[in-house]
Amino acid sequence: MSSVRNKVVLITGGARGQGAVEGALFSNLGSTVILTDVLDTEGQNIADSLECTYLHHDVSDESHWERVVTQIVEQFGQIDVLVNNAGIFHGNRMMQTSVEDFQKIMDVNALGVFLGMKKVGTIMAKQGSGSIINISSVAGLMGTFGSFAYSASKWAVRGMTKSAAKELGRRGVRVNSVHPGYIDTDMLSQVHDFHDDSDRTNKLLQVVPLGRVAAPEEVGNVVVFLASDESGYCTGQEFTVDGGIFS
Ligand SMILES: NC(=O)c1ccc[n+]([C@@H]2O[C@H](COP(=O)([O-])OP(=O)(O)OC[C@H]3O[C@@H](n4cnc5c(N)ncnc54)[C@H](O)[C@@H]3O)[C@@H](O)[C@H]2O)c1
Repeated sequence: MSSVRNKVVLITGGARGQGAVEGALFSNLGSTVILTDVLDTEGQNIADSLECTYLHHDVSDESHWERVVTQIVEQFGQIDVLVNNAGIFHGNRMMQTSVEDFQKIMDVNALGVFLGMKKVGTIMAKQGSGSIINISSVAGLMGTFGSFAYSASKWAVRGMTKSAAKELGRRGVRVNSVHPGYIDTDMLSQVHDFHDDSDRTNKLLQVVPLGRVAAPEEVGNVVVFLASDESGYCTGQEFTVDGGIFS
């Protein structure tokens, strides 16, 4: 995917998990990578190992977006790719979900994505080019049992992606969503430790036709494709990386 070489790529939630792996994939391909997160020690360590930039950034705070986007444009002159990857999980049924829990997850997972598309989309529209990749979930494609607020936030990401794609297409900006299933990160271990061979692990994996969880690279490769010029006619679409759960 040589066309991501020299592109300026902003990845939120880049201190660990999928965001950190995507940072490494883009770095290896010669992109200029900026990782942002609220986990500063982990984020700075990853950035040091990749020889890229780390910035403190709470995606639910509009003033943080202002600062981060201004700093990147001052330093690098442009933003070619935004990966709205930062997210939090909340496992609860609807009847057990408090207003505070619902608001908190919507602030990070949905408001954070909206702010990112608005702030970075403004820069990209001026440039006349850019690719925004919003990380939703398979929980943004179907109803889920026991993760009500998370599912609501990920459906919001999918809907906003499609509306933003219609709004920004004529300005040269593409917007797509990626929908991971079970990906082997800290977030998944909140749901269950898939590294054993227990009956529960086997039961949970029954819903996955490929019968396994995925490595973060398997999502990252799709993100890199959507960032690249090779996906130049794709916008407003959902790309599912779930081992076949939603099939
Ligand atoms: N792991 C899975 O199975 C799975 C499945 C579907 C979707 N996803 C989505 O993939 C994305 C990446 O998750 P992951 O699996 O790497 O999990 P993770 O928990 O390892 O990483 C999420 C990152 O987001 C950061 N973050 C949280 N709140 C933030 C905030 N307010 N501002 C900035 N950063 C913040 C965290 O500090 C962390 O570094 C998330 O959007 C998640 O919802 C994950």
